[in-house]
Amino acid sequence: TSSGGRLEVSLQARLDTHEVAGRPARTMGYNGGVPGPTLRLRPGDLLRIDLDNQLDHVTNLHVHGLHVSPEGNGDNVFVEIGPGESQQYEYQLPKDHPPGVYWYHPHHHGSVADQLFAGLYGAIVVQEHDPPSVDRERVLVVSDITLSQDGAVLSPSMPERMMGREGELLLLDGQLEPVLKARGGDRERWRVVNACSSRFFSLRLSGEGSSARVVGRDVGRLPTPVALEEVVLAPGNRMDLLVDLSEGTGELLAVPVDRGQMMGGMMGGAVGPEDSERALARLEVAQGAQSGTAVAKDDATRGPEGLLPDLRDTQVDRRRELTMEMSMGGMMGGNRGRGPGGMMDLTIDGRTFDHDRTDQQVRLGTVEEWSIGNVGPMDHPFHLHVWPMQVIDVDGQRPADPLWLDVVNIPAGGSVTVRIRFADFGGRTVYHCHILDHEDLGMMGTVLAE
Ligand code: C2O
Ligand code: CU
Ligand code: CU
Repeated sequence: TSSGGRLEVSLQARLDTHEVAGRPARTMGYNGGVPGPTLRLRPGDLLRIDLDNQLDHVTNLHVHGLHVSPEGNGDNVFVEIGPGESQQYEYQLPKDHPPGVYWYHPHHHGSVADQLFAGLYGAIVVQEHDPPSVDRERVLVVSDITLSQDGAVLSPSMPERMMGREGELLLLDGQLEPVLKARGGDRERWRVVNACSSRFFSLRLSGEGSSARVVGRDVGRLPTPVALEEVVLAPGNRMDLLVDLSEGTGELLAVPVDRGQMMGGMMGGAVGPEDSERALARLEVAQGAQSGTAVAKDDATRGPEGLLPDLRDTQVDRRRELTMEMSMGGMMGGNRGRGPGGMMDLTIDGRTFDHDRTDQQVRLGTVEEWSIGNVGPMDHPFHLHVWPMQVIDVDGQRPADPLWLDVVNIPAGGSVTVRIRFADFGGRTVYHCHILDHEDLGMMGTVLAE
């Protein structure tokens, strides 16, 4: 049905053996797969998830980017599901829910990065009522992992946590450099998720003739498509691509992004972010069935549905300033003391996460403008649950087209202004750095809208 449908899924979080690069790896996963099953929805649908925790650790589930109520167990940051326990979640998507690619992952504070890094994530696709016609759709979930010789997932050192861990292996749909087989002349839609705990990258398609453009990012569609190379995916970001394929071979490459270093690299290059290009997948495009199939493909991006209201000319009811900071808190002594980050404090407005404290009290039905500053040597991707953010200004630059995201990178030493319409759902939820090690070390705050 076009709306008012429902999807019921059972997800079992468990340890499993999964083959990576021809070797067995002891990963965590949903229903035994890495990534977990893709959940396909339409605006207006009801999503019901039964989560069964077969891990030895506390977990829970978060539906990243979905515009759904945080009430009850809806915002799982505050829910704990113990080993052997299960929990049922219900999410009612509004009829005008923006289409796009979203995802799910655990959100138990303190172990989010560990559980994602071990394999717990999956994609959610919210389809348009009238999607562009394509020959094939693929969901491409990018993640990274570090495995020991005997296939155990390796834990990072404390400096790696402070930097935000980057795995040695870069995976696409749980595989190392898989082959994507396609047909010349075809148009495909690729739904890309950055499910890495900390890694930033952009994508590049090498080889002759094939090309890709970005038609959506995070929330909804873009008013006009943009070039693939222009888009950086911070952890948690997604993008929606239309790919026109032509015969031949090529590669899908992850291009590194400079996201800064702790204390200007003082911790040594060993824990720095990736700095070389990596192949994510090989592309093999066979000869097309017939020539001339490219008919009527050019209007694929015509009148995209799912544009959100443009807040650039809207009256702002309230302005706030937030500051993300990485500082040598413990070493400076004073009243702040030593935070959970050891020698470094990762804070928002000088504080680490406290789930009993309300950091931002917002009036439901209002539009707010948040200026988020970053004091420190490293980028922090800022994520807000439930309500999308429209990017207004990035270090003095204004996006030409309206742009809605749910993870907005705040560059080192810079600041970003966003507008948020706190509408449809009230309740208590969080915002945090989506370098998940930073989130686990306390770079998270709470917001209450009522
Ligand atoms: Cu992708 Cu609060 O999470
Ligand atoms: Cu989220
Ligand atoms: Cu951060």
